Amino acid sequence: MIGEEDFLDLFIPGPVNVSKECREKLALPMIAHRSDTMGNLHQDVASYLQKMLFTDNQIIMSTSSSTGLMEAAIRNCVHKKGVLNVLNGAFAERWYAITQMNGKEADTLNVDWGKAVTPHELTEKLDEKEYDAVCITQNETSTGVTTPIKDLFKIIKDHGCLLLVDAVSSAGGVETRVDDWEIDVYLFGLQKCMALPPGLAVASVSDEALKMAKTVPNRGWYFDFLYLKKYHDRNGMQPATPVTPIYYALQYQLHKIVDEEGIENRWSRHTEMGNYTRKWVKNKGMTLFADEAVASNTVTCVNSSGINVPQLKSDLMTRGYLFATGYGKFKEKNFRIAHMGDRTLDELKTYLKTIDELIS
Ligand SMILES: Cc1ncc(COP(=O)(O)O)c(C=O)c1O
Repeated sequence: MIGEEDFLDLFIPGPVNVSKECREKLALPMIAHRSDTMGNLHQDVASYLQKMLFTDNQIIMSTSSSTGLMEAAIRNCVHKKGVLNVLNGAFAERWYAITQMNGKEADTLNVDWGKAVTPHELTEKLDEKEYDAVCITQNETSTGVTTPIKDLFKIIKDHGCLLLVDAVSSAGGVETRVDDWEIDVYLFGLQKCMALPPGLAVASVSDEALKMAKTVPNRGWYFDFLYLKKYHDRNGMQPATPVTPIYYALQYQLHKIVDEEGIENRWSRHTEMGNYTRKWVKNKGMTLFADEAVASNTVTCVNSSGINVPQLKSDLMTRGYLFATGYGKFKEKNFRIAHMGDRTLDELKTYLKTIDELIS
């Protein structure tokens, strides 16, 4: 049986620690998913998600991991002209693979890992050909890069494309204004900056994206935006059985984020933790994997020169921490420090001090 000794302080970029209050919400008694109670819960969560994202767009909720909604965005929003996948890391590559496996036309705009696409590069590429949509990973968890959507959305709109954004490791932690930045699909899971368990993915979907979906055949059943909207419009219903306990915790967490902490303060806390971590990296004589101008405030990726990454990971485990190595092909070449969710600057300082002791 899993016990106390199995639980570590998660400094990995998701899943992250979940507060006791949220965990208590998960243990509430079950409700029927076709009840008014569930409908009201769904509506309240949707309206708070709109507040958090600064949008009036339709909110879609899916009992799946975030990858499910990456697939949904492609199936609903890409038709004859195909899609441009901006590639600068492992999760952007996953989205490209999803595009291809769903039989959609896809081109790539390849950017060095550790960098973000520039407005110039994007303009040049979009001038060459028309697309239905552009896919961008707002925060590349594999490299610690945040792509500045704010500097790119006008270019995408001027080229007549929908803007699809993977915000899995940025939503709730990095400044985003969905309506001001004209984001058509903004999708994420809850196990990262939202500091909740995995299992429910959410997205805001614009009227333009819904209009596009109407023209696209074979959107499937489970992830059809129009079908999900049809049910949502029936007093917050879902076509299939949703993961109700996560809704209880999400409602609690959204009220806390929007009404107590304040979303702008939450972004600032992440910025403060990002700045502190980058300063620590430089003070230690180490280097960032990411171009500092676009370095993420939710996860820092550090080149591991001179550090035995597997050894550090096992030493930190004896101190009760779960440390993140590099992602995929960078497993031993770099490591990552997550500073997202409900994490505090003081907790981060203690963690970095522990690493100092172990590597000195
Ligand atoms: C940027 C990004 N996109 C997509 C995913 C996939 O999310 P999930 O595992 O919830 O499907 C992750 C997971 O780490 C991620 O970091």
